[in-house]
Amino acid sequence: MTADLARVDATRSRSAPVQQAGAVVVGWARFSDLPALARLQRRGFTHHHGYGLLTLASLWLAPRVLILVARAGNVPAGMIIADERRGRTAHGRILNICVDPRYRRLGIARDLMLTAEALLPPRRMVLMVDQKNDAAIALYTSLGYRDVGLTPDYYGPHRHGVMMQKG
Ligand SMILES: CC(C)(COP(=O)(O)OP(=O)(O)OC[C@H]1O[C@@H](n2cnc3c(N)ncnc32)[C@H](O)[C@@H]1OP(=O)(O)O)[C@@H](O)C(=O)NCCC(=O)NCCS
Repeated sequence: MTADLARVDATRSRSAPVQQAGAVVVGWARFSDLPALARLQRRGFTHHHGYGLLTLASLWLAPRVLILVARAGNVPAGMIIADERRGRTAHGRILNICVDPRYRRLGIARDLMLTAEALLPPRRMVLMVDQKNDAAIALYTSLGYRDVGLTPDYYGPHRHGVMMQKG
């Protein structure tokens, strides 16, 4: 599956699924999804790393930002936010991924990551993750991301950020 972000911006309000696997359907986030996604962020994240409604709304409106939702029926079971950075070394960034604790270890995060990667044009993807977040680091490593550097105290005192890269 390939598409550029111009197409993402043009189609993200559509209801058509991007990818369907079993009972979980990955599709574009609609503006009306944002309150439920803010609740998902509160449930999914510890240490206050989740995004609030205003941040989600700003990202939804921003150009070259992709917000995908994995729905189990009508329930948003997971979400991912990614964007495209232009410039000398264009790259895609995973800004946020979160799966409802009730839906974990079902492959939803893997599906969201692979779908976002397929929709973003850059070949290189980067992300930052808390050094203590073993589940997320295991996810990213399983998808081919590698550790390319440490940013001390990125998430607060003694919570270092690991920069990971693929491609
Ligand atoms: C990290 C997170 C997104 C994973 O979501 P998930 O849907 O449960 O992940 P998946 O089921 O797609 O897992 C894919 C692979 O990642 C790895 N993985 C995921 N969770 C793991 C865990 N708790 N322990 C070890 N490995 C894990 C495994 O290799 C897994 O494959 P497997 O189940 O076949 O062994 C989820 O735990 C979460 O939302 N955490 C809170 C938010 C967060 O920390 N986000 C990342 C911020 S950088």
